[in-house]
Amino acid sequence: MERPTTSHLFTSLTLGERTLANRVVMAPMTRARTTNAASAPTQIHETYYGQRAGAGMIVSEGLAVSRDAIGGINLPGLFSHEQVAGWSSVTDAVHGTGSALIAQLVHVGAMSHRDLLGGRLPLAPSSINPAGKVSTASGRVSTESPRAMSVDDIERTIADYASAARNAMRAGFDGVEIHAHRGYLISQFANPRSNRRTDGYGGDVKARSRFFLEVVRAVSESIGTGILGIKIAPYWTEGEAHVFDDDSSAAYDYALTEVGKTVSYVHAMAPRTSAWADFVAEDRTALLQRVRSKFDGTVIANGGFNAESAEAVLDAGFADAVSFGLPFVANPDLPRRLALGLPWADPDRSSMYVGGTAGYIDYPTATIADPLAAADH
Ligand SMILES: Cc1cc2nc3c(=O)[nH]c(=O)nc-3n(C[C@H](O)[C@H](O)[C@H](O)COP(=O)(O)O)c2cc1C
Repeated sequence: MERPTTSHLFTSLTLGERTLANRVVMAPMTRARTTNAASAPTQIHETYYGQRAGAGMIVSEGLAVSRDAIGGINLPGLFSHEQVAGWSSVTDAVHGTGSALIAQLVHVGAMSHRDLLGGRLPLAPSSINPAGKVSTASGRVSTESPRAMSVDDIERTIADYASAARNAMRAGFDGVEIHAHRGYLISQFANPRSNRRTDGYGGDVKARSRFFLEVVRAVSESIGTGILGIKIAPYWTEGEAHVFDDDSSAAYDYALTEVGKTVSYVHAMAPRTSAWADFVAEDRTALLQRVRSKFDGTVIANGGFNAESAEAVLDAGFADAVSFGLPFVANPDLPRRLALGLPWADPDRSSMYVGGTAGYIDYPTATIADPLAAADH
């Protein structure tokens, strides 16, 4: 009979006022299935998240906090009534199974395009083209020079995060996670290469962290007892790599010491040299130790984990939970596969970001040869 290969992963974890049934977290994954004018989730999102609700906690795909925040075609938001209504149905589907569901709040800043923003230029700390590519209705297009934000723009954007956070709670999410990596708006403020401001939101480490910390504070005041997390990657600067970069790392280190008890957890994605490169175990550990030395609360480790390495990182005390991204694409029942030591299916990368149900809600659960093994769980 197959035996469980893991144990620590399947102990409960208290987070805010919630007790998670296990320490397996589904990492946020943009899937570009919101093929409607309202950028609102539909029945297929309910099915997709409901299928994956064996995780103790699921973090939603990045949800745009405003119209200006959208970073690609068919990506959902959390700023309109239709979107709140759609997400309410998704949270119902997930809560029926006991898993916690967190809304990831995102603003991509300069990593957008006027074709996604009704003809307006993207917003950013300074007018510096990030030289990236963005998916629009006409395909992958190059980014352009964004409009440097005025202080009014900054204050309105912070208010947009707070409003999206209130919407998350209205829609029944258990809390929110602030996306603070991947060269998006918060990273653009942290990094002196994309932030040349001289007005108190740019300059030294403290000034470059200010936008992030003001967003954290505003969101925290908007969600009552909801869970508040931040997702960082050390510390994505530009393009497809997210490597330790001294200038932005210093800003994040400062922010980590400042967020203190305001945030319930830090979700730390390991470094790697390109979007699909392998994660290196030592780099993962170095990041987690760095986060632990600055932040007292719950740490969720992310980046290329399997059953053994996830168990090991928990046993070593480097993290309190482990999140899995890519493995959840093709394994809706990943927690069960982890518990029973069942093999993992490989995802089809060509259907990762296309609309429709194929490659989204049609991955099967594992079949178990020995019914006694299933009965154990
Ligand atoms: C299809 C896909 C979409 C992703 N979208 C997001 C996103 O919206 N927000 C985010 O913070 N990370 C996103 N990520 C990164 C994952 O959350 C995770 O950090 C990364 O995949 C590494 O974890 P893994 O090795 O377990 O996949 C995405 C990853 C994938 C594969």
